Amino acid sequence: MKILVTGAAGKLGRAVVADLVEHGHTVFAVDQTTPADSPAQGATVLDLTDFGQVMEAFLGIDEHESGFDAVVHLAAIPAPGRTANHATFANNVVATYNVFAAARHAGVRKVVWASSETVLGLPFATLPPYVPVDEEYSVRPESTYSLGKAAEEEMARHFARWEPEASLIGLRFSNVMNVEDYERFDTWQETPEAREWNLWGYIDARDGAQAVRLAAEASDRRGAEVFIIAAADTVMRRETKDLLTGRHAAIPVQGDVSGRTTLLSIERARRELGFDPQHSWLDHHDAQQ
Ligand SMILES: NC(=O)c1ccc[n+]([C@@H]2O[C@H](COP(=O)([O-])OP(=O)(O)OC[C@H]3O[C@@H](n4cnc5c(N)ncnc54)[C@H](O)[C@@H]3O)[C@@H](O)[C@H]2O)c1
Repeated sequence: MKILVTGAAGKLGRAVVADLVEHGHTVFAVDQTTPADSPAQGATVLDLTDFGQVMEAFLGIDEHESGFDAVVHLAAIPAPGRTANHATFANNVVATYNVFAAARHAGVRKVVWASSETVLGLPFATLPPYVPVDEEYSVRPESTYSLGKAAEEEMARHFARWEPEASLIGLRFSNVMNVEDYERFDTWQETPEAREWNLWGYIDARDGAQAVRLAAEASDRRGAEVFIIAAADTVMRRETKDLLTGRHAAIPVQGDVSGRTTLLSIERARRELGFDPQHSWLDHHDAQQ
């Protein structure tokens, strides 16, 4: 497939571009900074909040490619607190509108885009209705960043309604980790409260990339869908049931929490996309000792 990837210079974007190219896809990268050492076929620096620039990226800038089979939209300010809330909202929501709208104009019917685990109610000052959390309950954004992602999920639903042949797959990524981030995990083992804000979840960037590729390649899907994308385990060495203590003991358990199983359910992604995470921080970390 010929795939346009936004946010290609970012943490997840770099892993996604590498994985797509490794699996035989042709990638054209866009970002507001130049991706270093990218294996993409082409890279364009542009600002996704400018609709004209986004439209041109889809239709071809001079000799650059057009006629994409899919767009993978990862560009965003990736967390609350990086800049003023309104700036995060304005950047992320407008960029996503522009990508959805340009894809529609250009006839690109496969859109895979980064939503976020935050819409599940992070940092869970209000406890979730049950664990493992899944895609069945309504979004509960608690920050402006998350409100933007929730608004983008709602936008995706309407773009899908307007274009019934389109597939817009929103991946609710957990906290993205590269191998070098695993060094930090030891510091949390005696203070589990340090990571309770996302129920001790994470996603290895390479497994995040796997989810993106599977979603892009899934030719049989239509409409707007969302999937939680997390590692199969938690950031902790102790068993998951031993994390459900204190105020977390009050959360109804509905599903498998055996061993070190994640509390961010990836069952839907496993079932519908064939997602099968290959990387645990523990394997990598212990191999280094
Ligand atoms: N990192 C995480 O833990 C995490 C968790 C859940 C969801 N996400 C989402 O995943 C996606 C990728 O996150 P990441 O960690 O790779 O972030 P990142 O900051 O490393 O990469 C994002 C990229 O988007 C680009 N970008 C931002 N605004 C742009 C604009 N207006 N025009 C062009 N390019 C723009 C940036 O230059 C950057 O290279 C984001 O949508 C983020 O919200 C990230």
